[in-house]
Parts: sequence; C-alpha cells; structure tokens
Amino acid sequence: MQITILAAGQGKRMNSRLPKVLQPIAGQALLAHVLRTARALSPARLCVVYGHGGDAVRAALAAPDIAWAEQAQQLGTGHAVQQAMPLLEDEGSVLVLYGDVPLIRAGTLAALATAAGTNRLALLTVELADPKGYGRIVRDAEGRVSEIVEEKDASPAQRAIREINTGILCAPARLLRAWLARLGNHNAQGEYYLTDVIAMAVADGVDVVTQQPAHEWEVLGVNNKAQLAGLERIHQHNLAQDLLEAGVTLIDPARIDIRGELVCGQDVEIDVGCVFEGRVELADGVKVGAYSVLRNVKVGAETRIAPFCHFDSAEIGAAGVLGPYARLRPGTVLAEDVHVGNFVEIKNAQVAAHTKANHLSYIGDATIGSRVNIGAGVITCNYDGVNKHRTVIGDDAFIGSDCQLVAPVTVGRGATLGAGTTLTQDAPEDALTLGRSRQLSLTGWVRPVRKK
Ligand code: UD1
Ligand code: MG
Repeated sequence: MQITILAAGQGKRMNSRLPKVLQPIAGQALLAHVLRTARALSPARLCVVYGHGGDAVRAALAAPDIAWAEQAQQLGTGHAVQQAMPLLEDEGSVLVLYGDVPLIRAGTLAALATAAGTNRLALLTVELADPKGYGRIVRDAEGRVSEIVEEKDASPAQRAIREINTGILCAPARLLRAWLARLGNHNAQGEYYLTDVIAMAVADGVDVVTQQPAHEWEVLGVNNKAQLAGLERIHQHNLAQDLLEAGVTLIDPARIDIRGELVCGQDVEIDVGCVFEGRVELADGVKVGAYSVLRNVKVGAETRIAPFCHFDSAEIGAAGVLGPYARLRPGTVLAEDVHVGNFVEIKNAQVAAHTKANHLSYIGDATIGSRVNIGAGVITCNYDGVNKHRTVIGDDAFIGSDCQLVAPVTVGRGATLGAGTTLTQDAPEDALTLGRSRQLSLTGWVRPVRKK
C-alpha cells in the first residue's frame, strides 16, 4: 500500500502564522500524528502534498521516508492527489489521508485497505446527525454507491442524506491515476474534486465499497482553534483511558495532559492537573502530586512527588521524597532516598543516596555525596559572571543553614560548615569550618535616645 497525505491547506481560520498542519495536539504537529499512524501501516511509499507554509512544514517533519509533492496552488482535493501521482507507482493501492484529520486509527485504515483489496475503491464514510458541509454518499436503489455530491452541488433531496464522505479513501493506484487525469472543475466551487472519481469508478464497473470508523472522532478535522482544542481533549481522554486500563490510578482522568510518552509501572498514582512532556518514566508505586510538570524525567520506584513540582531532564532514584515546589533542571541525577523540599532548585548535579536538601536552596554544577544534610538557604555560587564552576561535597557532610559555597570548592567527608559560612576555600574532612565574623557582645553599650 502507498499513502498520500493532503496537507496543503493554509487554515485561514486558525488565525495563526503557524501552518495548520503544524498546529499541535498533545505537543505534536497534526501532521506528525497522521504520519505516525501512516507509518504503522508500513506503506511502500509515503507522500505528503504540501503547499502553504511548505518550507516550515518540510523542515519540521523532514524524514527520509517522506516524498514531498508541492501543490503550489490549491485547486481542489483531486488536484492535490494529482501532484502526488508522479511519486507513486502503479502497483498496489493508494490510501488518501489528511494532514488535518489527526486522530484516525491505524486499525480503521487497515480495514479500509482490506475492503479495497486489489481492485475495489473503498470509502470511509460516517452517518452524521448533522451532515452539513460534507460531501454526501449517494446510493442507487440496490444500495450501491453511485457518486459523492458536494454540499454546494447537491439537490435538496441529496442534502437530506446523512451518510457523508470523510475524504479518506483507498483505490488501486493504476485506476486512480487514470481517473484523476480525467477530472474537470465544472462545479459550484470551480475545483478539481477528488470525489468525482467515485462516479468514474462506477462508470468503469469498479466496485465501490464503504467502511465506517470505530469512532466518529477518528474522522474529525481541524479548521479552527476551537476544533483543535476539542480534538486535544478527545485525544487526552483516549490517552487517560489507556493508562487506566494499564492500572494507573488517575484521580481525575479528565485532568491530565500527556504531550509525549508516559510509561508507568504498577500502582502509579497521578493527582489532578499534571503535565507530562517528552518521555517520562514512572516506576512502580510512584505518586505524583497535583499540578506537577514533568518533562523527560525518569522516576524510581516508590518515590513520592508532592504538588507543584517542575522537573526537566532529570533522573530521580527510588524512594525519593520531593516537593512541594521542587525544581529539577537538566542534568540532575538523584540517587535513592534523596529528599528535595520546597523551593529547592537543582541543576546539573549528582546527588548520592540519603542526602537531604529540604528548604530554599540552589544547587548548581555540584557533586554531592551520601547522607549529606544541606541546610535551609544553602547556595552554590557556581557562576562568576563568565564561567561555571563545580562544588564537591563529600559523604556525611553537614552544610549549615544559609551557607554560600563559592565554587570551585570542595567540602571534605564528614565536614561541618557552620551556619552562614561563605566558603571560599576547601573545607577539610571531619572538621568544623566557620567562615563568618566572630560574634561580639558589648556589655557597656547603651541604646540611643530620641533628641529633644
Ligand atoms: C472534502 C470532500 C468532502 C468531504 C470533506 C470531509 C472533496 C471535493 N470534498 O471537502 O466530500 O466530506 O472533505 O472533510 O474532496 N486540500 C489540499 N489541496 C487542495 C484542497 C484541499 O491539500 O487544493 C486539503 C486540505 O488542506 C484539507 C483537505 O484537503 O486537509 C480537505 O480539503 P477541504 O477544502 O477542507 O475539503 P472540503 O471542501 O471540506
Ligand atoms: Mg474545500
């Protein structure tokens, strides 16, 4: 099977500089969804007809398996498929998809291709309560499809037909090529209609068969932001159902957003309002608190994430305790049983097991050992305005509250830094290091009195 995806539409009603097929659902371009589904069918050829904003579309979705066909002027769906035909071979069939119909399922398309076989034209149709705007499937007295009539060309009787053309069809390539060459544009819109090939097939004695999708949402298209938002919700609902079926506990399946791939172990629990981006892996027993955003993150078993956390490109070990309001930035690697509390930011740092930073800290460009206690308000001064420097803290060190570690600097194993220390030189192992002015009390001192 060969696949052609029509993606030349400008999408004026999106009111956006971004070409329509690059508008996102679940963080991915509409066209990317269609391409993923198309590839699931292992097509012999995969062709995309592009037009408006074509350079951006090609740049965003460049891949060696895509043959790009330009449709400089949009003269209709039939004209669009004509542009692809030079890139397709006569052998086998052609499946026509749409770059702005993103939720179509591979199973539905496989069934359509099976219905088409080697010598039939297969149409994907649905019955709609309100068929307004769509091409109508016209059938003869025996119930066989005789043609598709566009709304604007339809008689009142034809407009009453509720079975509509989704646009998706599968036809033998050799026949399709011949029919497309005979298309005219004498119709209400002055366009070359792909749908006119149906009457040609009937005239040539080729069987026209129909298939229905399992769900109506599979064939919904996107023309404006409201429809985009509508399909986003349907898609998220579907992803949430998959998670529920796999045993994940979602406190409210209507309040989760997955913009990438979320892989969950057993007994994972996710509270409301969480956003998952890129690839996120949650091992067995992980709990994610409300309103957390996780992007390209791996979380070890039994780790608990309290609400309002923001993690980006980080690896978190097992049995961790994080948040609320913890922030992990790229390059953070936490071993098991690490505690990261409220308003603690960690970037490009490795933290060994059982270490705790529970309050109000910035840890950047650091290597931190096991069982280290980082007191409240501790800051690694990693940046001198030009270069970044590393802080190294040995196992069992105790960093008192409000210390500043001016990197590059090393704190030895078992060292203690007194609260408020500004550390500018290495602190030796097992010793107490204080870097603050000595406390002073003046006994004879009297308070000033108000002048008269
Ligand atoms: C088309 C069908 C109609 C069907 C409906 C389903 C035709 C003539 N009509 O109507 O029977 O019910 O889709 O939504 O096929 N496109 C191009 N180049 C063009 C024209 C269109 O790439 O020159 C692309 C558009 O970007 C869009 C798709 O083809 O993705 C459909 O085009 P659109 O103008 O929306 O078709 P309709 O008139 O709605
Ligand atoms: Mg149109």
